[in-house]
Amino acid sequence: MVPLKRRKVSSSGAGNTGNTGSESKFPQVVLFLLERKMGASRRVFLSQLGRKRGFTVEELFSERVTHVISENNSGDEVRTWLASQVEGRVRTPAHLLDISWYTESMSAGRPVEVLDRHKLQEQQTDEEDVVEFSVPSYGCQRRTTLDNHNAVLTDALSLLAEKAELSDEEGRGVAFRRAAAVLKALPKPVTSMTQLRGLPCLGGHSLRVIKDILENGTSSEVESTKQSERFNALKVLTGIFGVGVKTAGRWIRDGIHNLQQLQASGQTLNRAQRAGLEHYDDLNQPVSKAEADTIGEIVEEAVASVLPGAQISLIGGFRRGKLTGHDVDFLITHPEEGREVGLMPKIVSWLESQGFLLYQKTTRNSYLESEDGPARPSSNMDRFERCFSIFKLSEEERQGAKQTDTENTPEDAFTPEALSQVKDDGLERTKPAGHKPWRAVRVDLVVSPISQFAFALLGWTGSKLFERELRRWAGHEKAMSLSSHALYDNKQNKYLRATSEEEIFAHLGLEYIPPTERNA
Ligand code: UTP
Ligand code: MN
Repeated sequence: MVPLKRRKVSSSGAGNTGNTGSESKFPQVVLFLLERKMGASRRVFLSQLGRKRGFTVEELFSERVTHVISENNSGDEVRTWLASQVEGRVRTPAHLLDISWYTESMSAGRPVEVLDRHKLQEQQTDEEDVVEFSVPSYGCQRRTTLDNHNAVLTDALSLLAEKAELSDEEGRGVAFRRAAAVLKALPKPVTSMTQLRGLPCLGGHSLRVIKDILENGTSSEVESTKQSERFNALKVLTGIFGVGVKTAGRWIRDGIHNLQQLQASGQTLNRAQRAGLEHYDDLNQPVSKAEADTIGEIVEEAVASVLPGAQISLIGGFRRGKLTGHDVDFLITHPEEGREVGLMPKIVSWLESQGFLLYQKTTRNSYLESEDGPARPSSNMDRFERCFSIFKLSEEERQGAKQTDTENTPEDAFTPEALSQVKDDGLERTKPAGHKPWRAVRVDLVVSPISQFAFALLGWTGSKLFERELRRWAGHEKAMSLSSHALYDNKQNKYLRATSEEEIFAHLGLEYIPPTERNA
């Protein structure tokens, strides 16, 4: 039984790096000191010492414990003691260790690597040969909520995925994203490698990273990536709206690593990049749900004034229940096919006339349904009429948002995610933050004809990995091609129509997964 209080701590870390509490720097390492032969007072003293250094030292033994520390006991003695503690069967923790490992970790200020001399004796695993978690292979077959019990591990894998993506190694990036997604779907924290037996999508590289963290509290590869000058430069530069991996790579080759160097370099920037640079701080500040709702009201008003009867839907991460996002995404349609034609320029004009837009670029609808089925690759090419924009959200409009913010999620503004966004990017701040009476927010608008609405809704709700898994499932398991426009059956050579997401899942032979469970 996990006490309620603790369960809250471990589940609140979704998307965060590390543990926020000062008393637990190494949340994947849960220690228990055996009193037997150690004595009660020495045990209390050593436990307090550990907690001061940021270790989790449990008072009582439970399944959460990953490291059992004892003094002057044999492996068998400890195992016998463990067996006597719990009615029924309990898994042997990952490590049964001698006090030497503990004292060395205390001096190092972190869990040191477990060496043979620290181990009480060879641990038996034969009877543990059971599969603990059963998880389907495709992300679109799983229900993945935002309640992630393995945030430390998934943050590490996501960071390595990001590094791969920024280095143009897409395949490797997907492999890390898939591995992270499997861990996100687990019902409780992983504390030992044996629990991972039989799980799909965990390749050798991901397993090494996980093992490193379970044993040492951190992954050396993740730590060195965080220190990497190239990685940090790529993050800062691609953090500019309008700058992709290729451009950032070229700038780095020219010796540009931060915004200041970029500005000094005299590089020619396109219109999007100039806007991105100008609003860099705002655009790297997470958007709250309340701000998203406020923007939703503005878009609603725009749509209602230019085409009464048109409907808007919040899509992207906010539809999946996320509390923050990097942008706000909306899908717009009209119940009468064809009425949506030419809608976007009208919406944009209205928004512009009201002073809501700092930047916008509209692309036209280029989707044409071909008799012979979708062109290959059909997968992730979106051809909707689309508007990439930067909204100007004034203090007034944000008032409502702010109040809702403090009512509902007072901790939002101070998430480690938010704080890490304001790291050193080489720009000097002369004005104190918070004096500007407005903030810039990235907003994506998409217009779809009603006949494609369900596909657009499904395709734009995400997560990106969930979408990728849906298309992989469709192609590999069903010989179908899925896009945000249509579903084509390559065996029957025909399009499968749908007016709801539920119907699309049914066509694909998948159980319906609601948006809040698509956070793969
Ligand atoms: P986002 O990039 O906005 O991601 O794409 P998100 O899940 O909302 O998360 P935030 O914004 O970082 O918080 C939303 C969805 O739109 C699809 C993506 O697949 C994703 O599922 N999308 C995005 C496209 O289909 N095409 C695009 O060009 C961009
Ligand atoms: Mn989004």
